[in-house]
Amino acid sequence: MSQSPQNAYQSTPVDYLTRITRLFGDYKKRAFAFMELQPGEILLDAGCGAGDDLLAMSQALKGVVELHGVDMDAATIQTAVERADAAGVTIDFQVGSLEALAYEDNSMNVVRSDRVFQHLENPMKVLGEMIRVTQPGGRIIGIDVDWGTMVLDHPQTELTEKICDFARDHHVNGRSGRQLRRLFMEAGLSRVDGYADAVCVPDWQIGSYIWGLQALLERFTAAGGCGKDEAAEWWRIAEDAAAENRFCGSMTGYVMRGFVE
Ligand SMILES: C[S@@+](CC[C@H](N)C(=O)[O-])C[C@H]1O[C@@H](n2cnc3c(N)ncnc32)[C@H](O)[C@@H]1O
Repeated sequence: MSQSPQNAYQSTPVDYLTRITRLFGDYKKRAFAFMELQPGEILLDAGCGAGDDLLAMSQALKGVVELHGVDMDAATIQTAVERADAAGVTIDFQVGSLEALAYEDNSMNVVRSDRVFQHLENPMKVLGEMIRVTQPGGRIIGIDVDWGTMVLDHPQTELTEKICDFARDHHVNGRSGRQLRRLFMEAGLSRVDGYADAVCVPDWQIGSYIWGLQALLERFTAAGGCGKDEAAEWWRIAEDAAAENRFCGSMTGYVMRGFVE
């Protein structure tokens, strides 16, 4: 049986997540500040991956906030535990599903998730769980990109836009970023506010890595989006442009905050 081509996030998730955090840490710093964490608060990172954000918070906050992380991927949680041990910080990591959080009602002050909603089959169920475990007055912070905002500068504009549309339409929840505010409103959160930031990527190696362009092009071709020769030509043109430092791409990420009544 032939396997669907994997991008770096699927094949090496820990390396991928840590590399993204290093490359695009600025959006994370701004989103950390937006949480307005107070001493003594308890925070849950829902879909924490390898714990990059919790480790950064533990170093910045020096134990004044109690930190918890949950993720369904046991291997990334194992890495997160090892990293926290090596750093000598206390963070509670658990393996679990966001659709059934193993935390008491009203046990958190802040529940946040970064780039998780795009992967969810049932985002409202997960948001309901995030709200259930948050105290009245507490905050929910949702951060996510929107695959409908991925643009790539390539001379073959029509084909390039079809490839980008394919990426949006073949992601579990490719319009997740733009939908966060509506989701928060429909879930009954109050004082919902937020912002959007675009990340500009002027480097082909980085862009093709973070957006998994090779695997995307293979899937697009296998789905009949274009022929193999056309795909090879598209890739060659992109690499030629990159060799002359002429690549540019971007994507927008949304950060939304709402209060639990
Ligand atoms: C793109 S990663 C983001 C990880 C981390 N938030 C970060 O910014 O580095 C998405 C994570 O969500 C987790 N995830 C997706 N759906 C989940 C679910 N239903 N329950 C628990 N974890 C889930 C994945 O295992 C993965 O680690």
